[in-house]
Amino acid sequence: MYKIPTFHTGFPPMSTGNGSGMRPREHWASRIGFIFAAAGSAVGLGNVWRFPYVVGENGGGVFLIVYLAIVFTLGISIMIAELVIGRAAQRNPVGACRALGGAPWAGLGYLGLVSAFVILSFYCVVAGWTLNYAWTLATRGFASDPAQAFEAFVASPSQTIPVAGVFMALTVAVVLGGVKGGIERANLFLMPLLFAILVALAVRAVTLPGASAGLAFYLAPDFSTFGIGTLTEALGQAFFSLSIGLGAMMTYGSYLDRGQNIPRAAGWVVGLDTLAAIFAGFAILPAVFAAGLSPETGPGLAFVVLPTVFATMPFGALFGTLFFVLLSIAALTSSISLLEPLVAYFIDEHRLRRGGVTVAIGFAAFLLSIPSALSLGPWANYTVFGKGVLDLLDALTAGIMLPAGGLLIALFVGWVLGPRAIMEFDESSERSRFAWIWLWILRIPAPIAIAWILIRWAMQ
Ligand code: TRP
Repeated sequence: MYKIPTFHTGFPPMSTGNGSGMRPREHWASRIGFIFAAAGSAVGLGNVWRFPYVVGENGGGVFLIVYLAIVFTLGISIMIAELVIGRAAQRNPVGACRALGGAPWAGLGYLGLVSAFVILSFYCVVAGWTLNYAWTLATRGFASDPAQAFEAFVASPSQTIPVAGVFMALTVAVVLGGVKGGIERANLFLMPLLFAILVALAVRAVTLPGASAGLAFYLAPDFSTFGIGTLTEALGQAFFSLSIGLGAMMTYGSYLDRGQNIPRAAGWVVGLDTLAAIFAGFAILPAVFAAGLSPETGPGLAFVVLPTVFATMPFGALFGTLFFVLLSIAALTSSISLLEPLVAYFIDEHRLRRGGVTVAIGFAAFLLSIPSALSLGPWANYTVFGKGVLDLLDALTAGIMLPAGGLLIALFVGWVLGPRAIMEFDESSERSRFAWIWLWILRIPAPIAIAWILIRWAMQ
């Protein structure tokens, strides 16, 4: 049931509380539905595709420790901050920042929308690979040389561009359904299934002959590989995986009413996302060593290694197909959270209709995805700093734009909202000590840590 938000929070009352003036803002149907939707946003290609290869490129165990430390300090604090902003303002990132902080803060919202658009564009390319893998495994079974099969596939735009388009069309279709009909329902039963297969895969991978070297790589930190790069990559991976830094969680928070305990919900989302990443690491890294591959294979890692694991399992092609179908769906529940902030912005601030806006933005993001799709094939030689378009957009967003967004979000909640944010933090424990610790993390350590990492990285 929609309820007009109550204004005992110290925030100025807003005209209707829904930003669009007319229609009441849609809200999540249930508390658990919100947690599933937010976890659905977080769990996606970031966990299964990105996390294992980034761990592989950054020294294994050391990276894992730094990553976990960042997730459970900065990550969870910023996720709570975003949800608080969204629920307090009941509107899209631009409108929320402007309503709560004044006109200049709208810039923070715009930065987020640009990040969302760019990530959406390359995200659907990798999600397209996933769709293609589901289809090829089902119809043709395993390739004799998975590494060569991956190379050949990504080098063929006539295959990669259409599947990216199909994935974008699916994203648009779900977002068209609106919050409850589309986003919430899809998550409810698919997530547990994906977890089950990830666990089965992990069990298979760690029992492969030769897996122990991979386990050691993943779990026994070699501190000699630690450097500023470890910090930057872990920070970027944390933001990307948790879906924070661009206002996706703000937007999902704007569909919350006051019944939800935000810190507890954030704890669930962060916990589930981290579990999924850790399992994906167990499913992939031991298998990399067992198959005699290099952990520094890069963005193709999961797509090369997982087929080799499935090939050793009974009913491997069947499991493999199911896995890539579920991963495509996990990617879909993430990509909708990239499109939704943009759509919410145009609905709230420009009073446009959901239908037209969703289709238009989806199409534009698809056009931008074409260079990314080409970058592993015909455009492989167009590189900047040694990176092709997809890698470059990924590094720019995860490495710089999301952390910059997170830095501003921390300052915004810490200093602009200040104690008012605590009233919004968790109704049952207003002014608890925990809330003050959270606020002080946002005020000083979070901005300093992020700024320090960004500056040190820029100086290199
Ligand atoms: N977290 C998602 C993943 O791990 C990707 C994603 C969805 C995202 N929404 C986001 C990343 C918002 C950053 C911000 O696959």
